[in-house]
Amino acid sequence: MQTRQHIFLIGFMGCGKTYWGQVLAKKLGLPFHDLDDLIATRSGKSIAEIFTEDGEPGFRQLEHDTLQTLADSPPSVIATGGGTPCFFDNMEWMNACGTTIYLSTPSTLLAERLRHEKEIRPLLHLVNNVDLQRFIENKVKERAPFYLKANIVLEQIEPLSQFFEQMCKRISEV
Ligand code: S3P
Repeated sequence: MQTRQHIFLIGFMGCGKTYWGQVLAKKLGLPFHDLDDLIATRSGKSIAEIFTEDGEPGFRQLEHDTLQTLADSPPSVIATGGGTPCFFDNMEWMNACGTTIYLSTPSTLLAERLRHEKEIRPLLHLVNNVDLQRFIENKVKERAPFYLKANIVLEQIEPLSQFFEQMCKRISEV
């Protein structure tokens, strides 16, 4: 496999990996994959069903196995799940076969977005809205050592057009 094959977007739930992944793939003329969608297709179950039936360990194994199926696929932009870099050797693996970009996002913004999207995210099912921001801050802190292994770390800034320009510039420098 060639190095720098894929571009992996990583970061906490709600940071915009899927949105920016699609925009970036279009700009670079590459296919786009959402890892959660690949997992759901492969297993024939939704992410929530996998968590309910197989637990988080079952989901993480499936996530790892599905990630590895990308090894021999043509270069693409991939939106990973928020926890993908934090299990097995996924982060090292992604760094070895592509460019990783961490979309670092303020917890206030994540909480604002995730407040309305908890249903599809099993890890948030039991977190009430009052505790949501604190939960996010703790989880991001716990995951930061993995996220910060990314080749490129980008702070989400306004305006978004400038943020995207910054992303493209940093990719061209890798
Ligand atoms: C998870 C994030 C989700 C999904 C699963 C677990 C996590 O993906 O993979 O619910 O551990 O942060 P998104 O980041 O796309 O929401």
